[in-house]
Amino acid sequence: MSPDLARPLEIPAPAPGRSLLLDDIGVLVTNDPGRGPWTAPLPDAAVVVADGRIAWVGRSVDAPTCDERWSAEGRTVLPGWVDSHAHLVFAGDRSAEFAARMADRPYVAGGIRTTVAATRAATDEALRARAVALVAEMRRQGTTTVEIKSGYGLDVATERRSLAIARELTDETTFLGAHVVPEEYVGRPDDYVDLVLGEMLDACAPHARWVDVFCEVGAFDLDQSRRVLEAGLARGLGARVHGHQLSRTGAVALAVELGAASVDHCTELDAEDVALLAGAAPAVPDGTTQGVAGRGTVATLLPVVELSTRRPMPDARALLDAGATVALATDCNPGSGYSSSMPLAVALAVIQARMTPAEAVWAATAGGAAALRRADVGRVTVGARADLQVLDAPDPVHVAYRPGVPLVTAVLGGTARARLP
Ligand code: NIG
Ligand code: FE
Repeated sequence: MSPDLARPLEIPAPAPGRSLLLDDIGVLVTNDPGRGPWTAPLPDAAVVVADGRIAWVGRSVDAPTCDERWSAEGRTVLPGWVDSHAHLVFAGDRSAEFAARMADRPYVAGGIRTTVAATRAATDEALRARAVALVAEMRRQGTTTVEIKSGYGLDVATERRSLAIARELTDETTFLGAHVVPEEYVGRPDDYVDLVLGEMLDACAPHARWVDVFCEVGAFDLDQSRRVLEAGLARGLGARVHGHQLSRTGAVALAVELGAASVDHCTELDAEDVALLAGAAPAVPDGTTQGVAGRGTVATLLPVVELSTRRPMPDARALLDAGATVALATDCNPGSGYSSSMPLAVALAVIQARMTPAEAVWAATAGGAAALRRADVGRVTVGARADLQVLDAPDPVHVAYRPGVPLVTAVLGGTARARLP
């Protein structure tokens, strides 16, 4: 096996009514919940795809005849990454803030306001172009499902248009009007919260599947966070929370109490928080968790943020050993971590946060699906979406073993692809 850089990234999807056999897969990660999480990948595997879905999974020697064939030539095939946390609609550049941080200025929530000024001033075309480029960059690295948040407009018009642009690229859109208190409301945070859960939610809910809040010192306190989440839930949105990134605010308990799908960051947890998340773990993602009103709260770790802000890694081992469901996502954003790379998140989770390679690959695929309450992505099982990535590697461990190396040689399916122009 050797890298074939001339081969196109996209595996041609079969036309409606036609079938495609993907065979000669050296190792296939299925995440089949029937086989339990982190089960050994299938060797010498094949997959049949028809009408955008997985129609058959098994050994290459047993594969049925299909209309078309694509040989993986012994490579590794995984479900496409499910990146359940990203901020891709923004303008401006904060590389100077990053450079200052590398010179030991600490990361604080208020840096978000820099991006807000640039985002408000940007045209729809400019915001769309940046978001499209980032989704394409993600796809090049194997991501086939991405969640996209608003949160850099912080006024009614800019939050609404941010979400409308996000919706062009994914169904997993999140209203994050409560990202930080904007400049014009400094000193009047409760007035801003009133705006968020009133006029802004009215304008944004039609474009959003989820509501999110940054519960943190310098952003929103616990009471304000509760008001925002409850208003979103009452509107039929699912809840997700930015919590315990920089301090223990109580956001984990709030997220669990309100049945949020996920609490993201989880960098600052004590034993009580870990026990709460373990107790709230959803069943291994299956049909019962589908839809925003599903059950369970996932702990989503964002290790690229810890890398980029030079902070200690979250205690993934404590969460996993207690029985919490852990997801990995990029948190791609211009401030705390500007990387679109799920492979980097997996590598950091393994090398620095002590997850096993199998746990990290699961967390970045099936775990992300659980965090989005999706049973149709993050797995290669009959009926799931045919969203696959092919790695130029003999084993999925290589994602962590070869950090920074572009191993993805082919991608099939994915909501992101469908929406790219
Ligand atoms: O998820 N934590 C809050 N929001 C982003 C950072 C946003 C920014 O600094 O621009 C995050 O890390
Ligand atoms: Fe975030």
